[in-house]
Amino acid sequence: MRLTRIFTAVALVGALTACGKPMPIIATGQPVPGGAGAINLEQGWSRETQDRAWFASFGSRLIPYAWLQHLERPDSHERFLADANMSALGFLVQTPTANNPDGFPVGFTRDVDGKQAWAGLGCAACHTGEVDFRGTRMRLDGGQALIDFNGFEAMLIDSLSATANDEDKFDRFATALGAAGAARQNLRNEIVALAQKLDARHRMNQVTVPYGYGRLDAFGQIFNAVAVDFLGIPANRRAPDAPVSFPVLWDAPHLDLVQWNGSAPNAGPGPLLQNITTALAVYGSLDISGHDGKAGYPSSIDFDHLGQIQSYFYQLKAPQWPTAVLGPLDAQRIARGATIYQQQCLGCHQLSNRDDAKRQLKASLTPLATVGTDPMMVRNFLDAKADTGAFAGRREAVLLGDKFGSQAQTSDLIVHAAIGAALRHPMQTMRDAVTGYHKVIKAAIDAHPDYYKARPLSGIWASAPYLHNGSVPNLAELLTAPAQRPSSFYVGSREFDPDAVGLQTVQGTRGSLFDTRQPGNSNAGHAFGTTLDAQQKRDLLEYLKSL
Ligand code: HEC
Ligand code: HEC
Repeated sequence: MRLTRIFTAVALVGALTACGKPMPIIATGQPVPGGAGAINLEQGWSRETQDRAWFASFGSRLIPYAWLQHLERPDSHERFLADANMSALGFLVQTPTANNPDGFPVGFTRDVDGKQAWAGLGCAACHTGEVDFRGTRMRLDGGQALIDFNGFEAMLIDSLSATANDEDKFDRFATALGAAGAARQNLRNEIVALAQKLDARHRMNQVTVPYGYGRLDAFGQIFNAVAVDFLGIPANRRAPDAPVSFPVLWDAPHLDLVQWNGSAPNAGPGPLLQNITTALAVYGSLDISGHDGKAGYPSSIDFDHLGQIQSYFYQLKAPQWPTAVLGPLDAQRIARGATIYQQQCLGCHQLSNRDDAKRQLKASLTPLATVGTDPMMVRNFLDAKADTGAFAGRREAVLLGDKFGSQAQTSDLIVHAAIGAALRHPMQTMRDAVTGYHKVIKAAIDAHPDYYKARPLSGIWASAPYLHNGSVPNLAELLTAPAQRPSSFYVGSREFDPDAVGLQTVQGTRGSLFDTRQPGNSNAGHAFGTTLDAQQKRDLLEYLKSL
């Protein structure tokens, strides 16, 4: 109870200005500050919340901030951060705002470590979307990003290497940073060191089937970050080859379980532990050596910001179909579609009331065998085991639980690392809460090993492509028999298709070919609703648009 009250208190702070007044909520159609003409949809956030949520750092330290500002692309004089380049990689470009003084794209953050300012990625880089329609660009908070994560990392490494190796490039870079004399050679050495560090990480996460735009194997990369990188055991490497769509975050903080496989209980300190895990994987640091963990592990995590970010997402609401942009919906069809939904979908996909600020939602876990979608994400999670190295002999929940032997389930090592980092949380109540929580996590996984979760479908119109692996381009295809769904299509366009309800699938300026015949990419399964007749499908689609 005490803990619930603390979380609620944190949630309320986010909705007030410094002088204690509630901040006005953004209305549909209002321009995005710094968004070069993009508009907002009403999602329960104020402008202040949006600007903070986009740029708050959780402690991600990718590259010195000033370096990123001056870095050039590997193959030209153009800046790496130039709008055209960032946009080609799928980021949402921005001009300066209060929390983003240098006009970095959405989700690029600034974190200060002593005297050094670092640039990194925040939640919003992977959890902000945009849907365009005939020249109107609609920004979606908590929406699915379409970034090419691996492409971004690869180009950053190439840019650093080119800067160290090409005299003219290096000269321009060193001059821009004001490095002269001995500082120049130091700078070059530091660039080489960072390029090597990032390259080692990039290789650790190498896969044969590219993720393309809009996907990342977050779990696979987190497993490697802890089991290979932090523990220093190269043999623990597993290819993170089950990329998933960036899930939408509206409603997520209200669900009882999160992650595509429903493996993360979401009450009490659950979100804190999940966010710590993410922060560690997204260029955070954790210091295991020299610490037995009893007083926790030192990390780069910014706990204050994590708490604020958590409260922002708690306030977030799904975007509603914007009739002013996409046209009106047909009320009669919606009514007929609602009946079909009640009969065929509601059993798994609960409805969510966006006006209930404290809504409590239930994800419904569906056995893999029932839903029949690609098994790789679930299997990789369950099959990953690793040598425990420095963790051997330590307790699973650091202060409690069984002691690790020489091998463990990789997910248990992640929980250990996250609890270890959380034991440095400034609040005693949080430190107390995390210690026993590993039992809750274990029980959740044991009860439902190979499952995917079905969640409420609020705002589903705005989160194509569909299914956990993004293998179905639009809702019309999801209602088509699996064997008849397209076997390949392009991902990367943001242009909306209001009839099929999804994004355009032709190759445009951005585009990666999604081949459903590749491992991890299967578009099979979820045959629900596929035997309805054409008229019923149109009615159901109309209803889905209205959610
Ligand atoms: C580098 C990209 C990236 C960043 C940064 C990131 N996430 Fe995620 N997030 C993902 C991916 C990918 C998943 C899906 C993981 C899975 O289920 O396999 C995910 C899942 C989630 C989920 C579960 C949603 C659901 O319904 O299952 C939540 C909640 C979440 N992230 C919140 C956050 C928060 C809060 C932050 C910042 C502290 C953050 N994420 C930062 C990529 C990212
Ligand atoms: C037996 C449970 C079950 C039923 C019934 C069901 N679904 Fe699902 N649904 C799921 C599961 C589980 C997933 C996630 C599967 C995955 O991602 O691999 C899902 C995913 C989806 C998604 C994709 C969500 C996303 O974010 O990409 C949509 C859309 C969807 N369902 C719509 C429907 C509709 C419409 C119906 C009714 C015709 C329906 N579902 C019936 C279990 C169900």
